[in-house]
Order: sequence, then structure tokens, then C-alpha cells
Amino acid sequence: MDALEELRQMHIQAKEAFHRIEGAPPDQRAGLWAKLRPELELHEKIEEQFVYDPVARDVGPRDETLKAWDGEHEQQAQEADGIIARIGELDAKDGRWITEFETLVTMMDRHIAHEEQDIWPKIRQEWGEDKLERAGRPVSVAKAAAMGGASVSEAFGRAMETAKDAF
Ligand SMILES: [Fe+2]
Ligand SMILES: [Fe+2]
Repeated sequence: MDALEELRQMHIQAKEAFHRIEGAPPDQRAGLWAKLRPELELHEKIEEQFVYDPVARDVGPRDETLKAWDGEHEQQAQEADGIIARIGELDAKDGRWITEFETLVTMMDRHIAHEEQDIWPKIRQEWGEDKLERAGRPVSVAKAAAMGGASVSEAFGRAMETAKDAF
């Protein structure tokens, strides 16, 4: 599967998890969040490493949007990390927890829509199917590792190993 399709499926899963948490009773939120948090972290890391960084290098000054997006993405991911840290300091049964969580959901919804609608079509055009398929290999390895219970850094490490052969 190509890298953007792999990433799009992760977006769908993240949105489903957002809805599940929003609809869950307060005493179940912490458990659901403990599962989602590393998934979000891994997603942003692999996007950056296997798609946005290399595509920015490839396009150089030819495409200002893609060139700038690499840095903008990092900034938005850091912003999300800040909200995630604040969520981590609160008790999930505290009313402020869901308020912070909603801030994250709003931010991530906007982030995901921008990626899918504005950034990815440009990447697809730039890279074409062959390169997207190759970039999809480390992404799929990271996802499979995470599903098998690997930590974010383990899953990322395995993807890096795969990427050595894929590029
Ligand atoms: Fe992202
Ligand atoms: Fe994404």
C-alpha cells in the first residue's frame, strides 16, 4: 500500500478514537487515551521521517508549499505535543480533561484536513505511485510493530531499518 494510503488509514483510526473517547464515560477515558496517545505520536513521527522530510528535500525550491510544509508540520506536531502534555497532567475524570482533549481534537481535525486536502495531492503529483509505494514500506512496518505492542521508539526503529532498503 502506498505511504499516503497507509497514513490516511491512521487518520481514520485516530478520528474514530477521538469519537470513542468523547462518547466514553469519564472513568473509561484514561484507558482509551493511553492507547491513542502513542499512536498519534508514532503517526506524526513517521509522516515526517518517511514522507515530509524526503519530499521537501526532493522538491527543493520548485514547490514552496511542500518545502515549507516540513517545518510547518514539525511546528504543528510540537503544538499538539504541548496539548498532549497538558492532558497528561490532568485526571481524566476532571472536567478540564475533556476541555483540553477537545482542543486537541479541533487542532488535529484541522491538521488532518490540511494534510489530506492541500498537501497530499501535491506529494502524489511530485512522487508518483512508485515512490509512494516504496515510502509505504517503512510506514507499514511501523504500524505493524505498534499493533504488535512495540513502543513508539521500537516501532520507529524497525521502520528506519526497512527504509534503508526501500530508498
Ligand atoms: Fe501530521
Ligand atoms: Fe497525518
